[in-house]
Amino acid sequence: MAGLEAIKAKFAAIDLKALQGKASFLFGPTDVIGVDVGSFSIKILQLKKEGLVWKVAAWGYAPIDAKAEASPDEKKQQVINRLKALLIEKGAQVKHAATAISGNAVIVRYVKFPKLTKGELRATLATEAEPFIPFDINDVQLGFHILGDLVEEGQKKMETVLVAAKKDVILSRVEILDGVGLKPTVIDVDSFALESVHEAIGAGDKMGSTLYLNIGHTVTNLSILEGGVTRVVRDVFIAGNTFTKAIAKALQYDPAKAEEAKKAHGLLIDAEEKEKALADGNRDALGVSQAVSGVLKDLVGELHRSVDFYLSQGPERSIGRIVLAGGSARLKNLAKALAGELKVPVTVMNPLAFVPALPPDLPPDLLPALGVVAGLALRRNRDWA
Ligand SMILES: Nc1ncnc2c1ncn2[C@@H]1O[C@H](COP(=O)(O)OP(=O)(O)OP(=O)(O)O)[C@@H](O)[C@H]1O
Ligand SMILES: [Mg+2]
Repeated sequence: MAGLEAIKAKFAAIDLKALQGKASFLFGPTDVIGVDVGSFSIKILQLKKEGLVWKVAAWGYAPIDAKAEASPDEKKQQVINRLKALLIEKGAQVKHAATAISGNAVIVRYVKFPKLTKGELRATLATEAEPFIPFDINDVQLGFHILGDLVEEGQKKMETVLVAAKKDVILSRVEILDGVGLKPTVIDVDSFALESVHEAIGAGDKMGSTLYLNIGHTVTNLSILEGGVTRVVRDVFIAGNTFTKAIAKALQYDPAKAEEAKKAHGLLIDAEEKEKALADGNRDALGVSQAVSGVLKDLVGELHRSVDFYLSQGPERSIGRIVLAGGSARLKNLAKALAGELKVPVTVMNPLAFVPALPPDLPPDLLPALGVVAGLALRRNRDWA
């Protein structure tokens, strides 16, 4: 097992310049594969640019299916085995990987510090950051990115994004990559990876800011982008598995059957659909929709909290639209339900909209789940261009 010192050395080059996509030359112009290890599935993606045209060099998606009773080490080994098999199957011959973390493993804070140079902040980062980080400062790897300068109460200040990532989680991720012979070049944050996609697909935000909801299995990464810059990042633990659990409870189904019912039915939103389900006595469709609605209400509550916080920060602020990503973006009628609830247009992300010809074996249904990995695959080209 690699020691923490080794990890530290590896990550010494990675501060928020890297986390925010503004990294300088790190390891050389080698090919990098994006590797997104979620709690439900692993996604890999390698992109290449031929002339001006983007192509997918390799892609892969594999569910993890870890047994609930498996120990963390067994789960890690299973992820390594799956990832290894996926890389071989897809013929991905690369040595370097970009990956991302989110959820409990990482904290993102927007902080106004007195004006310092980058070097000064780097030198004093642990002390400056400590009051803002709810973890023991020795247990985290810190990074920062300076967003810009401002004057507040006559004082020169700078607005800074602080990122604190738990060392044990980074270590565990590095062990997974090591286990398949990949060297990590970038450890990103899920929401920041979506920022790279936002830029690549040319998703402007003239009509107000864009709210991204990356709804996975365990966690929903919520972020608000204004002028291409992420201004709010929050992870909420209401996601696909929360829907499944609510369905299992309501219909007395085991997790596998609840998962299947969720995918088959999703939400019933218009009166016609509801009436038909009632007339047909479709207990599954009605039960699933009701259970999912209950969870969705909680998620919308969290969303309102973040949006209200964001809007309270400045008079010019507005949310122009919502973009859904993650496997749960496929939940039937979710976009429609959210649009009705929040009164803004809601779309489902195609993170590869900038690739003119997708591989024929890549199912369009899978695209929203590739949001984070697409951002990771783009990193190399952005960083080393
Ligand atoms: N058609 C569908 N309808 C509803 N939910 C779906 C559908 N297809 C996939 N999902 C859900 O998407 C979730 C998996 O999404 P994803 O692959 O983005 O998760 P993950 O990245 O592994 O999880 P996390 O990032 O939260 O650890 C699962 O909960 C799965 O049930
Ligand atoms: Mg995920």
